[in-house]
Amino acid sequence: MELPFAESWKIKMVEPIRRSTLEERRKWLAEAHYNVFQLKAEQVYIDLLTDSGTGAMSDRQWAEMMLGDESYAGATSFYKLEAMIKRLFGMNYVIPTHQGRAAENVLFSYLVKEGNVIPGNAHFDTTKGHIEARKAKAIDVTVDEARDTQLELPFKGNVNIEKLRQVLEDNKGNVPFMVLTVTNNTVGGQPVSMENIKATCALCHSYGVPVVMDSARFAENAYFIKTREKGFADRTIKEIVAEMYTDADAMTMSAKKDAIVNMGGFIGMKRKEWYEGAKLFCIPFEGYVTYGGMNGRDMNALARGLDENTEFDMLHTRIHQVAYLASKLDEYGIPYQRPAGGHAIFVDADKVLDRIPKEEFPAQTLTCELYLEAGIRACEIGYMLADRDPVTRENRFGGLDLVRLCIPRRVYTDNHMNVIAAAMKNVYDRRETITRGVAIEWEAPLMRHFTVQLKRLG
Ligand code: F0G
Repeated sequence: MELPFAESWKIKMVEPIRRSTLEERRKWLAEAHYNVFQLKAEQVYIDLLTDSGTGAMSDRQWAEMMLGDESYAGATSFYKLEAMIKRLFGMNYVIPTHQGRAAENVLFSYLVKEGNVIPGNAHFDTTKGHIEARKAKAIDVTVDEARDTQLELPFKGNVNIEKLRQVLEDNKGNVPFMVLTVTNNTVGGQPVSMENIKATCALCHSYGVPVVMDSARFAENAYFIKTREKGFADRTIKEIVAEMYTDADAMTMSAKKDAIVNMGGFIGMKRKEWYEGAKLFCIPFEGYVTYGGMNGRDMNALARGLDENTEFDMLHTRIHQVAYLASKLDEYGIPYQRPAGGHAIFVDADKVLDRIPKEEFPAQTLTCELYLEAGIRACEIGYMLADRDPVTRENRFGGLDLVRLCIPRRVYTDNHMNVIAAAMKNVYDRRETITRGVAIEWEAPLMRHFTVQLKRLG
């Protein structure tokens, strides 16, 4: 008999979690104004809000914490991190930052000017925020197929090369760089193929436009290249990563995802002049250039995490669990962005709560229902997160309205996946009875989803 699949690690330390009653959850959700960001973590049974900073570090990462060098300047921990980034990505200039958005803030402070245009395959919200806050424009050039959640394609995170060419052609001299996000979080943790990475870089370079890779989930992207793209099955993850970055000019990294640390990030660059420029913003925003917002011990754990999580077994365990949850949802007929992504399942709320009009935020409503059902905290990646158009102030209803079931790395077991799927099925089975959504009572002018206050209609 063939041996079944099992995790490539065992558990050394556990953290108790607690179920709650429906009555408790009703009260807590009302107090949180129907916004799960406002819940206390102890009011949550299974937390799928994000895979960012929520992973479990390995024994070796913890061991590295003890070796941290906390010197203000020139710490050995910095050089350890720098060496790992050079080895994996070929980026010779490194600035550590406290997380991914800080890397964006430092680099974009140097690169982005008012009126610039920055194309990308579905910029993450902080990335877009940092562009728009500088009165520049982020233009999405993701393939159209990404918008059809039921279409089964291996690389739905890809760039539409023709759309990109048009943007570059229309804005000659006004595009400081292009952002290539791997995996493409916003459209469902969907990967970008090696072929597409190369074509994107080649096209940008033919217009003299550098490419910045938003690398939060680069290792998961490499896993999908290995398992889905022709010609890569026999290559190691580290070899694939090196090839992904061969033509890139720089990277911003949220190390809270694929480097499996609770906090951390960095900028990697190939151009000395970018390093010199970004350095000037690192010092006032983040700190001196050899720590830039990080402890020495955390840089050590980050370096170790990068090394570990670019090994096949670690990634296979992770992606297998996400695919397992997807297979349970398939059993129950629940529609989600297909195929299952790297870090999460994105349930298509428009299709589940099809009686609720856009104006009443179906995905936000489904997020509330899932919490009420079982204390599971998911995250709306839909009309609420899309914010308003900065010029017209209209709600942006043009994109997808999804509920993200985001799986922290090395944290939950497949039994937890069973609970999540069962809870989703229970909500799905009573979907006909959910006819009204939510209405906004108060919202912030930018990134409203974190703090928005809602009321439940009906
Ligand atoms: N880029 C991508 C693709 C991201 O997914 C994130 C964060 C960032 C940049 C910013 O990094 O959080 O370290 O400042 N995504 C988290 C999420 C928050 O839940 O998807 P950060």
